[in-house]
Amino acid sequence: MTPKRRQVLLLWLLLCSGVVTEGLEPITTTIAVGMAATLTALLANYRNIYFQFYECCRPEWIAFNATGLKVDLDRKLYGQHIASRIILKAVNGFMNNGNPKKPLVLSLHGWTGTGKNFISKLIAENIYKEGMESGFVHFFTSTLHFPHSSQLVNYKSQLQQWIKGNVTNCERSMFIFDEMDKMHPGLIDCIKPYLDYYDKLDGVSYRKAIFIFLSNAGADSIAKTTLDFWKAGENRDDIELKDLETALSLSVFNNIQSGFYRTSLIDKNLVDFFVPLLPLEYKHVVQCAMTEMVARGLEPNWPVAEELAKDLLYFPKSEKIFAVTGCKTIESRLDYYI
Ligand SMILES: Nc1ncnc2c1ncn2[C@@H]1O[C@H](COP(=O)(O)OP(=O)(O)OP(=O)(O)O)[C@@H](O)[C@H]1O
Ligand SMILES: [Mg+2]
Repeated sequence: MTPKRRQVLLLWLLLCSGVVTEGLEPITTTIAVGMAATLTALLANYRNIYFQFYECCRPEWIAFNATGLKVDLDRKLYGQHIASRIILKAVNGFMNNGNPKKPLVLSLHGWTGTGKNFISKLIAENIYKEGMESGFVHFFTSTLHFPHSSQLVNYKSQLQQWIKGNVTNCERSMFIFDEMDKMHPGLIDCIKPYLDYYDKLDGVSYRKAIFIFLSNAGADSIAKTTLDFWKAGENRDDIELKDLETALSLSVFNNIQSGFYRTSLIDKNLVDFFVPLLPLEYKHVVQCAMTEMVARGLEPNWPVAEELAKDLLYFPKSEKIFAVTGCKTIESRLDYYI
């Protein structure tokens, strides 16, 4: 508390406790009571002004915008009809539930540059006024934050303290774990209790928090199924979640290499939604290039976008359908085309 605020509070307490008003004339008492009321109003104003300028765990800073999320997913996310639908349903349901039984846990899987981080950003932007910059959104990359397996014990306690401290500070906290497939299983294990159906753990409720796991695990099998549809002449938009679920479960959960495998995240059903991202095609890359031009304040130029998209690598070698790097390199490559 600032010295000025402390002074005001002290004066207010004195007035309220009667130390000053005791034995005073009725008129003086009336003036004192009036002053106390004015000071209370000033304090309330001060608080409101403070909350407007400094991010805090209040509705002014944390408010879910369902329409905003829908519009963003519809307009900004290309080629991901399945992910888009699941995300919208999952986040809507969770944010509109005043008393969730557990935190929301999403696990996004897919090829590089298909929009996993991008989706996390869209979710954050439609919950937190400050988006990814919010002090309530916490982002971890396993290779950056937890690189040495010899440090596992330290990482575990640091991560647990970090999660506990931040959720204590604000129950509506979001934790994003990137490269989840490269995360040490022991570390995944240590966050398990926070994802579970506990009312409270050591006096802290985690039920309003959001955990998002991002990984490339399962990307190959998602790509294979998408390719099978293409080969069969079927529309990509007709691919349904059930078409990918078996492939995903085989490659993610039964894969010894996968961090998920050795954890009981799966066995205990702690992940609420597995979200598959499809590999992006030429037309999506063109869309990404057009978007990037607009983002830079340039006139969107279709031939330029096509030129850029044509120079990218596509797989499989024979059909060349899916962009090897998705939309990931568009931003940096565009410089060479404009
Ligand atoms: N499906 C998409 N629709 C629109 N833009 C996309 C899409 N996928 C990727 N992008 C664009 O490409 C950038 C890089 O994508 P992103 O970081 O989300 O990839 P990723 O799936 O996390 O890849 P990686 O597995 O390599 O981490 C995004 O910031 C976004 O601008
Ligand atoms: Mg990523």
